Amino acid sequence: MQLCVIGPGYVGLVTAACFAEMGNNVVCVGRKEDPIEDLNKGIIHIYEPGLEDLIKRNLKDGRIFFTDDLATGIKDCVIIFIAVGTPSGSDGKCDLTALFQVAEEIGRVMDDYRIIAIKSTVPVGTNEKVTHIIEQQLRTRGVNLEFDVVSNPEFLKEGDAVNDFMKPDRIIIGTNNGHTAAIMREVYAPFARSRDKLMVMDPRSAEMTKYVANCLLATKISFINEIANICEKVGADVNLVRKGIGADHRIGPYFIYPGVGFGGSCFPKDLSALIHMAEEHEFNPVLLKAVKTVNDRQKKIIVEKIIHYFKNRGGIKDKKIAIWGLSFKPNTDDIREAPSIEIISRLLLEGAEVKVFDPIATSQVKKVFGNQIQYAENAYAALKETSALVLVTEWNQFRHPDFERMAELMQEKVIFDGRNLYEPQELRARGFIYFGIGR
Ligand code: UDX
Repeated sequence: MQLCVIGPGYVGLVTAACFAEMGNNVVCVGRKEDPIEDLNKGIIHIYEPGLEDLIKRNLKDGRIFFTDDLATGIKDCVIIFIAVGTPSGSDGKCDLTALFQVAEEIGRVMDDYRIIAIKSTVPVGTNEKVTHIIEQQLRTRGVNLEFDVVSNPEFLKEGDAVNDFMKPDRIIIGTNNGHTAAIMREVYAPFARSRDKLMVMDPRSAEMTKYVANCLLATKISFINEIANICEKVGADVNLVRKGIGADHRIGPYFIYPGVGFGGSCFPKDLSALIHMAEEHEFNPVLLKAVKTVNDRQKKIIVEKIIHYFKNRGGIKDKKIAIWGLSFKPNTDDIREAPSIEIISRLLLEGAEVKVFDPIATSQVKKVFGNQIQYAENAYAALKETSALVLVTEWNQFRHPDFERMAELMQEKVIFDGRNLYEPQELRARGFIYFGIGR
């Protein structure tokens, strides 16, 4: 099938590459300021495992092509996927400027029947607004063309996006048009594997599904973080409690790991957007607001622990503190809403000297902190003469470090483990002072 993907960002590139890999011809459209030339050489500017290889292979086979010309991109295609960014404004509201501009442009140049599938995460009702914008443009041109706008949200996790696209838990198709649904089924057939994985529903429910999935996952994390804090107070170990509750199949063992709070480009943004949407409809979403409050607090808790520990030990001013892990989660260089940023800012405010290490996100953090902090070449170099290590992101390489080497390098053997990676008893037996989350 001839396809067009608009927006060569993280979602758009994964979408374009995976459809091309299944034998479709895909044109991916960016803006003038996007690195189109590099993309056509197979050089991608984001870190996503497996994506570059996939794009290179499909470029070589001629199934994918990048351009900044939308008219070329949508020529002869059956489906136009829109995957442009929908950032959240300061009030939490989703900014749809880029999406509406693309809709206008499509209406201006469309020359035949098209299906327009919205992949970007958008507030409920956006499908109708996009339909309206395209209709207006066609009317201005005086042409009478049929088209259909489908809500087709993505559920890709950063760091595992190619895999999520190739083997999705479900594919949501939001349309009331049977013919459109049939074409969407066809293009997704190689990924759907079993028929019930592909769900057709009305556009509003499809749009809502995306927000609800992310907000429920965010709720699980804030819930277990709250429980972790209570565990600490009452002298229980949240790790055991987590296993205990996870054995109940109605609860399940997945995605209930306490930590330093959730970050990334999706959970914080989608939570704020759903709160905003509810309030626009004069409904007070008390639970969703609490999920956000708990998360904001959780990002601060580890620093409170550090301050509290050093309070009677000369304070943290001028103390050297090492941070392991900067990205909001492992296998990505994304630092958007990352707890590390909040933790470093606060430590600097308290006068600490901060030395950081991350396998790939360091250059991103340099853009934020410049020479206010030090950047280590490797995990151990970050520890030299430090008074404490704060583990913020659970990269695999931090799971089984050489504790003897660490002990030799550190001036004071204190570990604040923001992801409960280590066993408290084992570390204490090795002479470390250990603080985890909720244990
Ligand atoms: C998320 C959704 O999982 C994905 O389906 C959606 O399309 C986009 O948003 P992503 O933001 O890439 O994906 O990361 P995810 O792996 O879901 O983690 C989100 C945050 O939650 C991270 O900061 C992570 O550290 C945190 N988290 C996750 C926890 O603190 N505990 C957990 O048990 C799981």
